[in-house]
Amino acid sequence: MSKTLFIKTYGCQMNVYDSARMVDVMAAHGYRRVSAPASADVVILNTCHIREIASEKLFSELGRLRRHKSERAAAGEDTIIAVAGCVAQAEGGEIVRRAPWVDVVVGPQTYHRLPRLVARARARAAGGLAALVDTEFPLESKFDHLPEESASQGASAYLTVQEGCDKFCAFCVVPYTRGAESSRPVGEVLAEARRMVAAGAREIVLLGQNVNAYHGAFGAGELGLGGLIRRLDAIEGLERIRYTTSHPSDVDDDLVLAHRDVERLMPFLHLPIQSGSDRVLLAMNRRYRRDDYRRTVERLRRARPDLALASDFIVGFPGESDSDFEQTLALVRDVGFAQAYSFKYSPRSGTPAAAAEGQVPDDVKSERLARLQALIGAEQARYNALFVGTVLDVLFDRAGRYAGQVHGRSPHMQSVHLAGPDRLLGTLRPVRITRSGPNSLAGVLHVRDGRREGRSARPVLGGLA
Ligand code: SAH
Ligand code: SF4
Ligand code: F3S
Repeated sequence: MSKTLFIKTYGCQMNVYDSARMVDVMAAHGYRRVSAPASADVVILNTCHIREIASEKLFSELGRLRRHKSERAAAGEDTIIAVAGCVAQAEGGEIVRRAPWVDVVVGPQTYHRLPRLVARARARAAGGLAALVDTEFPLESKFDHLPEESASQGASAYLTVQEGCDKFCAFCVVPYTRGAESSRPVGEVLAEARRMVAAGAREIVLLGQNVNAYHGAFGAGELGLGGLIRRLDAIEGLERIRYTTSHPSDVDDDLVLAHRDVERLMPFLHLPIQSGSDRVLLAMNRRYRRDDYRRTVERLRRARPDLALASDFIVGFPGESDSDFEQTLALVRDVGFAQAYSFKYSPRSGTPAAAAEGQVPDDVKSERLARLQALIGAEQARYNALFVGTVLDVLFDRAGRYAGQVHGRSPHMQSVHLAGPDRLLGTLRPVRITRSGPNSLAGVLHVRDGRREGRSARPVLGGLA
């Protein structure tokens, strides 16, 4: 009888990719994925450490799993509980201390060893021995040990090409949880991309904590992200290429030109700025200033005038004054973002900003966050409204929230909802947009009337364009 595995994913797209690969590596050892922990022989929580709220969620989930494990034990069934991902890396010891019913702790760079760890955990569970913790940064690459076979991720597939970060922003845990920056060789990425397309992917999203720092080995030299995108563009059957997340300091000319030249590179870019105040950017150890960011946006929009921009913001970073915050609001109005995420600064132990003077009280952070989110919501609504009445190519990637509805993405990454059958999933179709809101669009399938429609609509946005 095959064994079963349940995996729950927190955090960023890179964790989603890692979870898919953990399923692959376990599948090679006879584990079948199930959709609820109750019927699972192995439960994996793939965790995120970026903000405090993310890691606290882990401990409440572990509380639930403890009850679940003892219920299964009463019925004579073993359950192995594994914690993976960034909390595992950062707080492996703490997890084992606070939740001794956890059997395995495995970091983001060692999950290729999961089958071995789980087998050892099974053997020692009977003896009541301590949990197995593997949070090394090994010299070997996990990618050399993962199976080639990979379950299909559907129409849109994530592909990690770069990991880790050397930038050490003052607020961020990633350099500690994911280690030093490294890139996968070009040949390996292309081979994985071809397998994904053969398994049904129409879109590939290249992933990295700083994906545009990509510099993969290629022959005797290296290729940057722009070069990698041009190579991917040659893969037949691949319709769309995206990449995330980018750092504003690493947008080189070749990447800008790729946005001009590569039709299948979608006109959307997530480029987190964090703050509109130079004083705060300096304190954050972000290596650009507001005007550098604006110039980068100008270069990109000159290359691809319909480029939709997204960003991330942190409010209430230590020392942020009212006037610093006003500069963030001004920048949002000025650049014209199609989407943006914003967070209250969360002190993370071990990072320089956690110990900095001038911590901002929580009520001030909340008030700033509410103001920023209201502005971002209005900007998103304004952006989306530009598309009503136009025709957009939509890649349908999943069922909608309501029965009889499907969900897809526009070239600009907008969610598009449409009443239609499931057989639309995995297809790329022209959709006439009928309604818009701050977070999504709605439309109907567009039937082309004999003459060519030409390219989809390309509204241009932003004070800087
Ligand atoms: N590498 C990306 C960001 C990765 S983390 C970049 O440099 O832009 C994703 C987002 O989480 C960040 O953009 C930031 O806005 C937010 N974030 C990271 N650490 C945080 C913290 N300590 N408190 C609040 N938000 C944080
Ligand atoms: Fe974190 Fe991004 Fe800064 Fe790296 S560049 S330390 S991942 S915020
Ligand atoms: Fe979270 Fe780790 Fe991603 S901290 S955001 S899961 S890199």
